Amino acid sequence: MTDIQLGMPQLPGPEYPAEVRTRLEADAREVISRYPDSRSALLPLLHLVQSEEGYVTRTGLQFCADMLELTTAEVTAVATFYSMYRRKPSGDYQVGVCTNTLCAVLGGDEIFDALQKHLGVGNSETTEDGKVTLEHIECNAACDFAPVVMVNWEFFDNQTIESAKKLVDDLRAGREVAPTRGAPLCDFKKTARILAGFPDERPGAIEASGSAGDASLAGLRLAKGVTEGGTVPPRTEPPLDAAQAPEDEQAPPTHPSSHDAPQKSAASDPEHPAGPVSRESEEGER
Ligand code: FES
Repeated sequence: MTDIQLGMPQLPGPEYPAEVRTRLEADAREVISRYPDSRSALLPLLHLVQSEEGYVTRTGLQFCADMLELTTAEVTAVATFYSMYRRKPSGDYQVGVCTNTLCAVLGGDEIFDALQKHLGVGNSETTEDGKVTLEHIECNAACDFAPVVMVNWEFFDNQTIESAKKLVDDLRAGREVAPTRGAPLCDFKKTARILAGFPDERPGAIEASGSAGDASLAGLRLAKGVTEGGTVPPRTEPPLDAAQAPEDEQAPPTHPSSHDAPQKSAASDPEHPAGPVSRESEEGER
């Protein structure tokens, strides 16, 4: 295990070659200029150094610290907190299988298990050819397309064991794969540079940005009351007259709504008062 994995303050890493350092410094200054306080640029700078070497190295940590006048311990604390920063060399394609609740019950767990066997790697491990790093990931707000697999943070919706195996086979063989929606796929280093805030130059990326899938759009239409026959005004409930509400739904004056009111609690039940039981009442019960 490396010292960055342990989250320990870092010894200085080897220097970037002069040409690399000059180029990264120019990029970093551009990023820093977007923020009123330079330390706010730490997250994009970590993506920037990740775009250089594929993960956050000790050299990258030291570079961020130098540029932002932070300690390496401060930079390390941030880099080890967020899961989007890699802490060891990894593959060109990070294949993340969502194993949060909805994806898991709809097949995400089975897909992850099948990919582990198919690729011969465990969680956060990389295939021998250096192409694919397999990870299980948390919910990416794409639950309406569960089970979801992400490759370098691009969506592959409604996956099955077979489609996921084909996906990783295609990635390893260098065949072109297209995400279900959104921008085209690129390798991890290029993705990291885009996340650092530099222009996304992939053909079609601008047109695809902000696109949503059919299931999300259908939900949006329903929320807006739009049907094939036209727009339906949103359903409104007439306000409930407090005096007409059933007794058990009326809010006591000290509570802002009936939902906040204690229902059957010791405070509202004189048969079972709250508080310590007195010795007399204990003895009376014997
Ligand atoms: S649970 Fe998988 S995207 Fe939400």
